[in-house]
Amino acid sequence: MAGLVRPVLAANWKMNLGPSAATTFFEAYLARYAPRDDRTVILFPSAIALAAARASARARPDLRFGVQNIHSAEKGAFTGETSAAMASDAGARFVLVGHSERRHVFGETDAQTAEKVRRAAAHGLVAVLCVGEKIEEREQGQTDAVVIRQLRAALAGLEPSAIAEVVVAYEPVWAIGTGRTATPEDASAAHQAIRSELRALGGAASDAIPILYGGSVTASNAAALLAAPGVDGLLVGGASLDPESWAAISNA
Ligand code: 13P
Repeated sequence: MAGLVRPVLAANWKMNLGPSAATTFFEAYLARYAPRDDRTVILFPSAIALAAARASARARPDLRFGVQNIHSAEKGAFTGETSAAMASDAGARFVLVGHSERRHVFGETDAQTAEKVRRAAAHGLVAVLCVGEKIEEREQGQTDAVVIRQLRAALAGLEPSAIAEVVVAYEPVWAIGTGRTATPEDASAAHQAIRSELRALGGAASDAIPILYGGSVTASNAAALLAAPGVDGLLVGGASLDPESWAAISNA
């Protein structure tokens, strides 16, 4: 997405930290992370904690917010779901789409992921499109083929100008929540495959797309991953829940 200063450091809280915990988090985090113009920090609280998180950070317009999921439909009888319009109204500017847990725990398909990318764009939300291979796919040498398939399914048919408005996150499924981080070399190799497919789909405008790495990022390995060629930022789960560790990653 154009205009996002790299590195882009994104916190995915998953189903953790409700409104009270989010407020406590920001009290500690804001004291440890001062605004910086050499990076972009985005937080993805649960939808129900978004308002509390934004209120706690109201003095910090440098911090950006998103939601972890939207429904692909515009509105209607979808009990429990959040629409893109509602997320936008609640102050989200970003949305995670195609996260591994949505795909593999909730069974979302490539086609649903594509619909969500389009719905997000229609409401001015930046889709953070997550792609990544399972361990058996990696062992069979399928890593590039899987991420390319996921990118094509989500982005094919969009105008290059629309493709340029997304963010991509490479999150190998085997690295998520396992403590088994991809090496900087593995991350670089996958990011290179993603970059060249983005070029093929979206032309030169796609160079504006930051490609983030996610999967067992910690305060200890963040700097090495950020230094890997082609890694434009990080998408962090567990290590973003603790304000000290997230501040260290924010400052990496
Ligand atoms: P962990 O950082 O907990 O491995 O989670 C990564 C992730 O899924 C971020 O979206």
